[in-house]
Amino acid sequence: MRKSLVGYLPELQKACVRLKILISAGPTRELMDPVRYISNRSSGKMGYALAEAAMTQGHQVKLISGPVHLLPPKGVKMELVETAQEMRCAILKDSKNMDLMIMTAAVADYQPLKMSRHKIKKGVQQWTLKLKKTPDILAELGRIKTSEQLLIGFAAETERLLRNAKEKLIFKNLDFIVANRVGVGVGFDSDYNQVWILSRNGKIFKFARMTKRKLAQRLIAFWTPYAASRKV
Ligand code: PMT
Repeated sequence: MRKSLVGYLPELQKACVRLKILISAGPTRELMDPVRYISNRSSGKMGYALAEAAMTQGHQVKLISGPVHLLPPKGVKMELVETAQEMRCAILKDSKNMDLMIMTAAVADYQPLKMSRHKIKKGVQQWTLKLKKTPDILAELGRIKTSEQLLIGFAAETERLLRNAKEKLIFKNLDFIVANRVGVGVGFDSDYNQVWILSRNGKIFKFARMTKRKLAQRLIAFWTPYAASRKV
């Protein structure tokens, strides 16, 4: 059934398939004390562009975002969070009703073991900050998703891009993973991106470098027939 629908993207789009789509975006901040945190350079641009593209293609969108400096796309339901723990709660609360889940957020992998209630005072020359793993939200979604739901992850890599992305696809039980390089001026915080999509059945689709907004339109159109075929 899925295969036959996937071949008919234009027909499906004309038929106005309206999917419920959950998107995560931006970084998380892991607090050390009331004024300091660990985070990363994600701007949220990729996730916000996907939310906007999904809206303009007629879908119902919920965007869960870490702290960014972007305006929410018009018509998109938003929830703002700060930490990985908060992002996990927000995503799990909404995930049950979704047809398509796209996790672009750069969730911090580690958080301070303890958050100090007061600002940590400057003292000794060197000190060690103890960290513990944050929850792996995507892996958890991979364990609980139903056969009607399509789950997409993003892999941000500086080396062995496709090999590392494939490992995440399998380990986190995803339907597709988007592999992109990150580094200075690449991936994070840029208006452009260049990606590969890896599928569970071993197919690889290369997308040319383009603006994140244009890429987002293509990605939503790419996944729509797959998600629609599970919904029917
Ligand atoms: O925000 P921009 O500046 O536009 O940049 C876009 C981007 C580079 C952030 C985006 O394209 C991207 O690659 N997002 C994924 C970033 C990331 O955290 O990659 P990862 O390879 O570390 O994680 C793999 C997947 O697991 C991701 O879907 C991530 O959301 C998820 N994850 C990771 C850790 C964790 N504790 N929980 C998770 O759910």
